Amino acid sequence: MTQTLTLRRPDDWHLHLRDGAMLEAVLPESARDFARAIIMPNLVPPVVTSADAIAYRDRILAALPDGADFTPLMTLYLTESTDPADVVAAHASGLISAVKLYPAGATTNSASGVRDFDKVRGVLDAMAEAGIPLCFHGEVTRDEIDIFDREAVFIEEVLDPIRQRTPGLRVVMEHITTADACAYVKESDGSLGATITTHHLMINRNHILVGGIKPHYYCLPVAKRESHREALVELATSGFEHVFLGTDSAPHTQATKESDCGCAGVFSSSVTMPCLAQVFDDAGALDKLEAFTSLNGPAFYRMAPNEATMTLIKGTPLQIPAPLTTDDGPVVVFDPARPVHWHVKR
Ligand code: DOR
Ligand code: ZN
Repeated sequence: MTQTLTLRRPDDWHLHLRDGAMLEAVLPESARDFARAIIMPNLVPPVVTSADAIAYRDRILAALPDGADFTPLMTLYLTESTDPADVVAAHASGLISAVKLYPAGATTNSASGVRDFDKVRGVLDAMAEAGIPLCFHGEVTRDEIDIFDREAVFIEEVLDPIRQRTPGLRVVMEHITTADACAYVKESDGSLGATITTHHLMINRNHILVGGIKPHYYCLPVAKRESHREALVELATSGFEHVFLGTDSAPHTQATKESDCGCAGVFSSSVTMPCLAQVFDDAGALDKLEAFTSLNGPAFYRMAPNEATMTLIKGTPLQIPAPLTTDDGPVVVFDPARPVHWHVKR
């Protein structure tokens, strides 16, 4: 008998859509399956003011396919000169849903991010007061910290002190990759949420490095050892209410990935829902998938869950789509490195 699963339409609480030709190509891949997405502001130049966010939102809406039902939830890129009043006004008007904090140098297009956290204290205080969520890229960037330790050190040196100093600040620790982060989120109150990506639930660092280097699995934070992946799966599939899907789907062209200094990012939008159904199925937790993809995120962001539904069907192995064609060059789609038997009913 065919197995099917119907859930409320999912949302993606962390997505990179880029701009121009790339935006045109990747937006339909998200709009097909997701009702809403938190749109990352790390364009070049970044989306730092309300005016930037309005213009970017208009470009996204203009690029939507006819008939698509997709709402971009905009964010502002926090810099050391961000005006607290602009942030509060942008949130009060409904323009933005969150503010993004990149520690300077942490990842793609983060050069304008924050070097000195004391310099953004005023903005964080204003955000705590107004209840505006802060999406935090959770890695320290000091040269001497090993890349595999950067998330765990971040919790201790940056995140926990900021949360203690700014009580009430609502923080999303993004794309968590370690058992340390899972433990920290589990022991925190409802002011801390966390997102987990599709790829971090499916790959560990061996996928990147064993048998030859696989640039399409390289992203930031970098995937950790298997025990950390297992902790992420356990947390995501537990139904824990402060953890939800943020794909961090981050398109780069094949040429910029397959390079002697390859870009960080995994493009997973096209296959995320089948992949997640497989992860939850393997964990015997299909009944928890809707919480992760469609309920916990809206609850954290104080929004209603979607009324529309999506149906997934279990059947033949999913074929990973060919690279997406864009006017900038092909973009390779995430290969989950294991059979996936779920499909989205179209
Ligand atoms: O792998 C990543 N890619 N991690 C990030 O934090 C940024 C993203 C991108 O923009 O390409
Ligand atoms: Zn990201």
